[in-house]
Amino acid sequence: DKGNHRHFMLKEIYEQPEVVARTAAHYLDMSAGKVRLPADLPFDWAKLPRISIAACGTAYLAGLTAKYWFERFARIQVDIDIASEFRYRETPMVPGGLMIVVSQSGETADTLASLRYAKENGQHVMAVVNVPTSTIARESHIVMPTLAGPEIGVASTKAFTCQLTVLASIAIAAGKARGFINDVDEDRLVRAMMEAPRFMNEALKLEPAIAQLAKSLSKVRDVLYLGRGTSYPIAMEGALKLKELSYIHAEGYAAGELKHGPIALIDEEMPVIVIAPFDHIYEKTVSNMQEVAARGGQIILVTDAKGAEHAEVKTIATIVVPDVPATIAPIVYSVPIQLIAYHTAVEMGTDVDQPRNLAKSVTVE
Ligand code: M6R
Repeated sequence: DKGNHRHFMLKEIYEQPEVVARTAAHYLDMSAGKVRLPADLPFDWAKLPRISIAACGTAYLAGLTAKYWFERFARIQVDIDIASEFRYRETPMVPGGLMIVVSQSGETADTLASLRYAKENGQHVMAVVNVPTSTIARESHIVMPTLAGPEIGVASTKAFTCQLTVLASIAIAAGKARGFINDVDEDRLVRAMMEAPRFMNEALKLEPAIAQLAKSLSKVRDVLYLGRGTSYPIAMEGALKLKELSYIHAEGYAAGELKHGPIALIDEEMPVIVIAPFDHIYEKTVSNMQEVAARGGQIILVTDAKGAEHAEVKTIATIVVPDVPATIAPIVYSVPIQLIAYHTAVEMGTDVDQPRNLAKSVTVE
């Protein structure tokens, strides 16, 4: 049932504040300001040699975001792989490590094969999964459910933001257990996480402005998305959403890679969507925007009020997202990038819930 919404995808975009709140409440104890993970984990965070993550598509991008969190909060090295690469690479694994697989459906063939490889190689396997009865959930040692509810749209939206919520919670808990986060920091981070739904609601109010912007985006051939830090996976997620829904060619790049190739594509026809909250690396992204602007590129900046004030370049549109704590930026910024892809596809008249050539669950390789 789509409710009052035109597509399942739009309904699922709008459900996000609620399902992210539900997922956060499952892992976070708001009154105590603490993360609550299962007490009987079969390993000790402090002794963990390494974390590996494997997943596909949007779930992979949730995993890539989590790498930044695990390394920052828990000071533990993370290997992140696309599951179809991981499964055949025969990578050596230090026994006793943790493998995290991320999957909405819990049935993705390559992710399942990665899980099995990790198990055979002495890893503790943790699944961040939306379908608790799925094969991936059944075969994992530890199941960390995302409480997104059934996701019908082929493009993943609410499952992604719930995956981010679970992974951030785990990273905070790992940081605490490893002694890199104290009680005060944990309390601050937990409070920030609990605020994500409110900020997502605010971000949803950007829809009319984004629908307007989509009119011009629907006329272009290619779009480049740029981001740094945790905005880099969000840039790639923006590009993935746009290509799968609107069939417009899109690429997501780390902003610092611009000079190493993609800058050759920039001309007056080329929209560049820059995802850049005003954070510790904002200035670096500003220089990348200047490089784009100098070549006549059409910048669409997704930032907060401070970022808009310090952008120093002419943009064709600036989408001003609420000012949020850095940890939850990827969760909140997912909303405008989903709406950009959705409305561009609607403008183009493509089948939003059932894009051509795609299946909701990829159970064959
Ligand atoms: O069910 P899974 O999360 O394992 O699926 C992984 C990918 O197939 C999935 O995220 C895909 O990339 C989506 N269509 C993206 O919107």
